[in-house]
Amino acid sequence: MSSTDVRDSAPGADPRPADRPGALAAAVDAAVATVRRNAAAFGSLYPDSTTRDDRYPLRPATDRFAEGANRDWTTSFWPGMQWRAVELTGDADLRAAALAHAADFARRVHAGEDLDTHDLGFLYTLSCVDAWRLAGDEAARDAALAAADHLMTRFLPSAGIIQAWGDLSDPAQRGRTIVDSLMNMPLLTWATEITGDQRYADVVARHVVQVRTHLLRDDDSTFHTFYWDPETGEPLRGGTEQGAGDDSCWARGQAWGIFGFALHHRTSGDPESLRASERCAEYFLAHLPADGVPFWDLVYSDGADAPRDSSSGAIAACGLLELASVSPDADRAARYAAAARRMVADLIAGYTPAAPEDADALLLHSVYDAPKNKGVDEGCLWGDYYYLEALTRLTLPGWVSPWWPAAAAVPTHATLTDTATEPDGGTA
Ligand code: GLY
Repeated sequence: MSSTDVRDSAPGADPRPADRPGALAAAVDAAVATVRRNAAAFGSLYPDSTTRDDRYPLRPATDRFAEGANRDWTTSFWPGMQWRAVELTGDADLRAAALAHAADFARRVHAGEDLDTHDLGFLYTLSCVDAWRLAGDEAARDAALAAADHLMTRFLPSAGIIQAWGDLSDPAQRGRTIVDSLMNMPLLTWATEITGDQRYADVVARHVVQVRTHLLRDDDSTFHTFYWDPETGEPLRGGTEQGAGDDSCWARGQAWGIFGFALHHRTSGDPESLRASERCAEYFLAHLPADGVPFWDLVYSDGADAPRDSSSGAIAACGLLELASVSPDADRAARYAAAARRMVADLIAGYTPAAPEDADALLLHSVYDAPKNKGVDEGCLWGDYYYLEALTRLTLPGWVSPWWPAAAAVPTHATLTDTATEPDGGTA
């Protein structure tokens, strides 16, 4: 459990500390200070996915991997934070550290280490695509393409999905995908753009339609996971892995939906993905507690004795800014951008350490996997990453996202600069 108390962020407290002009800049300074300190502490090694009592231990050793090794799905969020800090500050030491991690990710993919996952998108977008696009690292570009090729081997043509987890012959995982997979599609979209090979984009198109059709429910909530018959392609059933129940709405999954569908709309122009992102967003915003930071499952609301998941808030804030940037409806775009700004303000006010040295995490009070009692009320690498991405989106006008293909247009949310949140800039 976290040892750092949630500071007072009572709704209605006026003005909230994080609403003050300059609060975003102060939050960036604090976050970058922590990234610098962690980089000095971890060197070429990797922190674990979540903190223990607000401190990141090294990633534990396993029978196959040494302590601090590059394994599992979360390691790229660490160099991803370094790249965002480089963009925010131009720090040469962090650039060198991120490039060294990109070399390690190249080694990992060429050695075939721990690649049985759809999360190759998370892993290689924030390590190697970033190293290529921000530093011209050709070896990183080749490694990202190798990762995209490996991700393509997980496509099950009859079902039209990329299998999420495990070995492709594992009967427990065969034919299963999860809503998080939407965030792994940008690596394939990028691969089409880099190579001119349409096969990657074709797989993205088929996979996204299946997720949209079967994981997005009629009430605009999402299943975490869904199974297809891998031979016949018949859709079978939804279920959960990390949510409160098969029919509940896992907060992080809904946040991945906002963000992932908006990204797909940006690259494909598909109006159904825009609509899907809006539906996910409306449901998410309608199920927030008063302080604007979600419980770990949206089945809980104010008064519930359940932990929050600040990482879902950070992901949703990025997703809402993405959605605002692609929305053709100015009123909707303004509402989503205001909701994102409010959410970031709420995270700063109530879910960050009082001082950077108080914790290794940028963002406190996340949940990794409540049903397995894993990383409950701790910091986590992806929460820290998306919090820093949200700060970057809000403070760097013209910022170009790693989730966009290389030639994507510059963002249209360049007006979202560090000014006070409107008093009524609510979460709609
Ligand atoms: N993508 C796995 C998670 O969000 O926990």
